[in-house]
Amino acid sequence: MDLYRIRGGSRLDGEVEVRGAKNSALPVLIAALLVEEGVTTIRNVPDLKDIHTCLKVLEHLGVKVDFDLDSSTVLLDAGRLNSFEAPYELMQQMRASFMVMGPLLGRLGKAKISLPGGCAIGLRPVDLHRRAFEAMGAGITDESGYMMAEASPLRGTTIFFDRPSHTGTENVIMGAVLAEGTTTIVNAACDPEVEDLANALNAAGAAISGAGGTEMTIEGVTSLRPLDHSVMPDRLETATFLIAGAITGGRVTVRGIRPADLELVLSKLAEMGVEITSSSDTITASLAERPRAVSVVTYPYPGFPTDLQASIMALACLADGTSVIREAVFEDRFLHVAELARLGAEIRTVGDEATVIGVEVLSGASVMASDIRAGAGLVLACLAARGESVVNRVYHIDRGHERLEDRLRLLGADIVRENK
Ligand code: EPU
Repeated sequence: MDLYRIRGGSRLDGEVEVRGAKNSALPVLIAALLVEEGVTTIRNVPDLKDIHTCLKVLEHLGVKVDFDLDSSTVLLDAGRLNSFEAPYELMQQMRASFMVMGPLLGRLGKAKISLPGGCAIGLRPVDLHRRAFEAMGAGITDESGYMMAEASPLRGTTIFFDRPSHTGTENVIMGAVLAEGTTTIVNAACDPEVEDLANALNAAGAAISGAGGTEMTIEGVTSLRPLDHSVMPDRLETATFLIAGAITGGRVTVRGIRPADLELVLSKLAEMGVEITSSSDTITASLAERPRAVSVVTYPYPGFPTDLQASIMALACLADGTSVIREAVFEDRFLHVAELARLGAEIRTVGDEATVIGVEVLSGASVMASDIRAGAGLVLACLAARGESVVNRVYHIDRGHERLEDRLRLLGADIVRENK
């Protein structure tokens, strides 16, 4: 199992380019299922464990897949689907595969999807996805851990989401593209990745309007041309690098990004004293002094991303003052708190709220990543901690970051990957 050995204290300085966004690449690759004829081309696809799992699911369904790692381009031919089943072995590796439900129902009128199991960040039910497809006319039953769905065909209707669901919105969009009639999603997720998916589909002949807002409309069409799309840059990884610069008292510029996707995050970092400058496709973050305390509530986009909660907590651990961080998206996303405490952080949690009493120094220790984002937060804390740290279970981090250590090293970090 791989681990990171990190000697903290080096000031990170320099420029780094982010990869394509995992959470945009996944639905866009899955959308290839909707194309009956021709080869879909998806560029700027990050080389990540989750992407390979997603491609395995697509291959299992009969899609011909060719991932050219040198050009970060994936070619997909979904002309001959020979299955409508997403099996347990693949689903248990990545719950985002549940998004094949929409395109399979839209294109084949049936789907058999293993129910996603538990997850380190909360229960993460799929009831909103299910109710949406039922509202669109699908008959859904449960059988031996699988959800069996049939629709002949899916029909457009108005879907009211109780709360915005990121992949729920994407799943329904993909189901609605080839459905009969018009689908309206009320209380849709507004994330930039949802908009990226809609743009990719619209360029291939879909008729989606309002993506990026809380209400969107999808007019069903009879077929799509092959998609040809370049995945948007990863806003979460961008923020991780910016915080890496700040937490080490350095200066990091991230290139090839869209500052508008990170407005609230940048404003929180600025509140903490981080100096931020941006151009149309770069952001630079630097911090010369101890960070200031902050108050953060995670919330669906454009709120503060739950996926950056652990990273901003790492910075808050070293703040001059007491920060309050509330996790309002997932019910159990504080597993990194006990690990940060091993580095000397002072954090108390009550329910969904963490009170972080800033300390002057963190000290190296062995810690364990529990999911991608908790892992990234721990790496950040270890970069700032005095002495040597070990981050175990790096496979979690690899699900969402392409060789994170190589790029941190280019910025001056003392971090190596070891296999133990
Ligand atoms: N929820 C329900 N029922 C549903 C769906 C969601 O109750 O049917 C709840 C969830 O339990 C959660 C909230 O609604 O409390 C929001 O969940 P959402 O559906 O938005 O999350 P998701 O679509 O499963 C995506 C990202 C996550 C990210 C969340 C929140 C992908 C592949 N995953 O998950 O990313 O944390 O949105 O922004 O896009 C990650 O990349 O590390 C990651 C976990």
